[in-house]
Amino acid sequence: MSKTKTAYFCSNCGAQSAKWNGQCTSCGAWNTLEEEIIQKGPQKGFSGSSSHSAKPQLLSSISYDNNYRIDMHNSELNRVLGGGLVPGSLILLGGEPGIGKSTLLLQVALQLPEVTILYISGEESSQQLKIRADRIGVQNNNLYILTETIIQNILPFIEDIQPGIIIVDSIQTITTQLVESSAGSISQIRETTNELQQLAKSTNIPVFLIGHITKDGSIAGPKILEHIVDTVLQFEGDRNYGYRIVRSVKNRFGSTSELGIFEMTSVGLREVSNPSEILISQRDDSISGVAIAATIEGLRPLLIETQALVSTAVYGTPQRSATGFDLRRLNMLLAVLEKRCGFKLGTKDVFLNIAGGIRVDDPANDLSIVASILSSGEDIFIDSKDCFAAEVGLSGEIRPVVRIDQRIAEAEKMGFKRIFISRYNLKGLEQSKLKIKIIPLGKIEDMISYLFQ
Ligand code: TYD
Ligand code: MG
Repeated sequence: MSKTKTAYFCSNCGAQSAKWNGQCTSCGAWNTLEEEIIQKGPQKGFSGSSSHSAKPQLLSSISYDNNYRIDMHNSELNRVLGGGLVPGSLILLGGEPGIGKSTLLLQVALQLPEVTILYISGEESSQQLKIRADRIGVQNNNLYILTETIIQNILPFIEDIQPGIIIVDSIQTITTQLVESSAGSISQIRETTNELQQLAKSTNIPVFLIGHITKDGSIAGPKILEHIVDTVLQFEGDRNYGYRIVRSVKNRFGSTSELGIFEMTSVGLREVSNPSEILISQRDDSISGVAIAATIEGLRPLLIETQALVSTAVYGTPQRSATGFDLRRLNMLLAVLEKRCGFKLGTKDVFLNIAGGIRVDDPANDLSIVASILSSGEDIFIDSKDCFAAEVGLSGEIRPVVRIDQRIAEAEKMGFKRIFISRYNLKGLEQSKLKIKIIPLGKIEDMISYLFQ
């Protein structure tokens, strides 16, 4: 009988160490080393990969088909993948439980009847998946469901079915017999991901891995997972709202500034190709405290609504709360308004909300946030055809922002009549061709005189 071997793994960075330490010697995190049983068998990895070893090749002699990508029939997903799915790539889709990861991949699989797809589910039974597929309501005769979690048992089915795409739901439930620790442990996740990586590279089958995310927003399991895979997609959104954003965090085959937007409906995820439309609530002209920001998320210009409520504080200490926006930045903007413009906000409660439940951290939203706070404080509404794109500095100056022409073009497309920007952004702008009126500002006071006097 072989002796049980154990090792210590850092749950933060995945580094392995032979003995326990209070601090990880690799990433410096404290109390992250956990003991795990490891027992390496004689043969490692996907059986197909060990049978032929790679030979050195001249770079100039390597040919590839640059244009060949699998069209996912889903423009938002194609976009975050960098124009479609690259054969042989390993993609990690991370997100909080219940956000819609399984729904997205099952739906995509259903909508691709020309590709044989193997969906390996370690989380849900085949009946549960059938119920979900019925809910999405698309028929497909080329989709196989396998509820097996041991990788050595899965491999023969892959050789048998010869799928065009593999989906693993989730990487935390899959285990390999080569490692003896329990499912979801660091050494298991690392080993199974490595094996799936070898499988993808040796067979050229693209593999999607679903991964759960811990509360602090990182993929559960070590960071090492992110190093192994080719692409990391993050599924975000507020569960109370229908909107979901898929962000590309790492992509060996495309840009990482891409963003896909979906809406969770009763029949699966709907692609949202014109996000500005849904992020602006239909409103009456005469509501104060609402302003529209021309923001950029990733590469996409979006118009989003910022809503503020300013009211007299009931208790001694005024409350400040921000949803979808950095609270410290809100406090800074309030201090600027108080100090530079003489607005007495020190005795007021201020609540700020970004409509649609999405989180933005584009500095260009400052001006719209200031405008909505002033609008609520003064109880004067802002014209629904006005929008804003500028950063506010500590001295109350209106600072320029990047890619102003894209923001202006989106605002114009959405039918806005005026856009307030920094006067330093005017350089190089061809205003004569624009239908939207550009209002250049130097200081916050300039905006106040435009809007509230
Ligand atoms: P799910 O894909 O199971 O999330 P994850 O795999 O990320 O844990 O998504 C579950 C949520 O989505 C669940 O709360 C139900 C909801 N949902 C819909 O609103 N409409 C649908 O058509 C489907 C299939 C799920
Ligand atoms: Mg799931």
